Amino acid sequence: MKIIITENYEEMSARAFDIIKSVVTENPSALLGLATGSTPLGLYRNMIDDHKKNGTSYKKISTVNLDEYEGLDVTSDQSYVYFMRKNLFEGLDIDLKNTNIENGKAKDAEAECARYNELLHSRAQDIQVLGIGSNGHIAFNEPGTPFGSETHIVQLTESTIRDNSRLFKSIDEVPRRAFTMGLKNIMNAKKILILANGAGKAKAVYGMVRGAVTEEVPASILQLHPDCTVICDKDAAALLN
Ligand code: PGA
Repeated sequence: MKIIITENYEEMSARAFDIIKSVVTENPSALLGLATGSTPLGLYRNMIDDHKKNGTSYKKISTVNLDEYEGLDVTSDQSYVYFMRKNLFEGLDIDLKNTNIENGKAKDAEAECARYNELLHSRAQDIQVLGIGSNGHIAFNEPGTPFGSETHIVQLTESTIRDNSRLFKSIDEVPRRAFTMGLKNIMNAKKILILANGAGKAKAVYGMVRGAVTEEVPASILQLHPDCTVICDKDAAALLN
C-alpha cells in the first residue's frame, strides 16, 4: 500500500484527482470504478473543473459504481444513481449509456446481482475509487463479509444506517438493504484509490493499514492488492504514527 497523508480535504481531493487524470489521459476509454458518499465529492469537483477548463474528455470513458440502495432508482434524490448524475456525470461529457450501477428497483435481486457480476467479469476496472466506512467497510461490504464475495444484497448495519441518516430526512427513511459490489470484484481492479478524511475515520484507517487482514475489517483486504494507494488527511491518519 502506498500511503499519502495530506494537510486537509482539499489537498486529499487534489492528489486523488491527479491520479484519476493520469488514468484518463493514458487511456481515454478507461473503465473507472466510482464511489458515492461525501468523501469523493472534492475529487469529482476537480474532475468537472478540469473538464470545463482543459477539455479533458470522458466521451469514451465507462464507469461502474459500487453500490445502490434497494428500492431506490433515479427518481429518488437519495439514490446513488441520482447522486452520480448530479455530482459528476452532468458536469462531464460522459455518455450515460456507459455508466453502470446496480438497479435498486430490480424485481429479481439475484438476477440483478448476476447481471452486475457478468459485467464486472467482462472487464476489470482500470482504477477503483473507494471511501471507507467508520466501521471499516468498503462499498456496503460490512464487517464479516467474506473476502471472496461478489455482487450481493446486504443488510446494512446499525452504524452504517446511522452514518448515512444525515443525508435523509429521518433515520427511518434510510433503506435497510442495498446492492453492493463484493470484495472480490473490488480486488479485481487494476488499481485502487481509497480516500479518507476526518477524525471519524481514524480507527478504520488504522485497521485498514496497520491491522490484521481480517474479514472483521473489510478494508484490510486492500493490504493484499498489488497497486493500492491510500490518500487521507491528517485527521484520518492520526493513529498511524
Ligand atoms: P462517506 O462514506 O464518504 O460519506 O464518509 C464512506 C463509506 O461509507 O464508504
